[in-house]
Amino acid sequence: DWTTGNVIEEQVEAIRELVGDKRAICGLSGGVDSAVAAALVQKAIGSQLTCVYVDHGLMRKGETEQVEKDFVAATGVQLKVVDAEERFLTALKGVSDPEEKRKIIGREFIRVFEQAQAEIIADEGPAVEFLVQGTLYPDVVESGGGTGTANIKSHHNVGGLPEDLEFKLIEPLRKLFKDEVRMVGQELGLPEEIVQRQPFPGPGLGIRIVGEVTKERLDLLREADAIAREELTTAGLDRDIWQCPVVLLADVRSVGVQGDGRTYGHPIVLRPVSSEDAMTADWSRLPYDVLARISTRITNEVRDVNRVVLDVTSKPPGTIEWE
Ligand code: XMP
Repeated sequence: DWTTGNVIEEQVEAIRELVGDKRAICGLSGGVDSAVAAALVQKAIGSQLTCVYVDHGLMRKGETEQVEKDFVAATGVQLKVVDAEERFLTALKGVSDPEEKRKIIGREFIRVFEQAQAEIIADEGPAVEFLVQGTLYPDVVESGGGTGTANIKSHHNVGGLPEDLEFKLIEPLRKLFKDEVRMVGQELGLPEEIVQRQPFPGPGLGIRIVGEVTKERLDLLREADAIAREELTTAGLDRDIWQCPVVLLADVRSVGVQGDGRTYGHPIVLRPVSSEDAMTADWSRLPYDVLARISTRITNEVRDVNRVVLDVTSKPPGTIEWE
């Protein structure tokens, strides 16, 4: 029967056998899934694993520093940080279509891993054959990998993979749901701050800008997102909501008035949801005073944003992310 102990034991054994004396790399995203996958594989093959954190420039404020600090402190894993902002932004230039964005981001991730692989081989000798991914069961289903399901979105680590992939994949969480992954992480001794983190998608803020992704828009969204997160944390609501995507409607403008001048700026959407496993979700009934504080601060502090709107759609019919 199902216990976290059994899952860990089974996976550790299978991974050891599969990898043998070869090496593996694991893409860390800062999220729960990749952290737990990495910790599990590290338990199996120790120093044959190198984690690679790709800073694609689509991260939230402070995220890169957090991974560098927290995860390494918790696991002692070998970490390689790759600054790939320019590469991703160049590849995304002029692209507005959500699926196209997802495919480009998935492809560029792999290209960066391939480059990291070459560098690791040059440093350490034995071949890196395996790529560890924190793919969960819902990612597989919603990317069309389950039986009889429509392709809703290409998750960056499933439907977004290029066809000429050079790695063999290790996906130890492929049969698990998020709550199970959190239990496995806890059992592996990962700290609360990592295990209880709210989900954040691999493609990052790239799929939270409706319209073309540019550095300027990302900076703006990062500011708005940081304010929303700060206020939710201050209000003690982090454990009550599943996650709260903050979305920039870059292709929409509306008229506002600030000071005594007319503005013509962009709306920011707040999308707080409650959920058990992200397959379905309901919009969170956040206290009005918290919403008011977030709205006031965002419109005061973020340039070019003159309106904050609340998404009150459940899933279905809406998905959690806008793209
Ligand atoms: P949707 O938008 O499909 O999201 O309702 C369901 C959950 O999955 C997250 N999500 C992703 N996570 N790579 C990920 O690692 C992705 O490409 C991706 N797309 C969506 C989303 O944040 C939500 O928790």
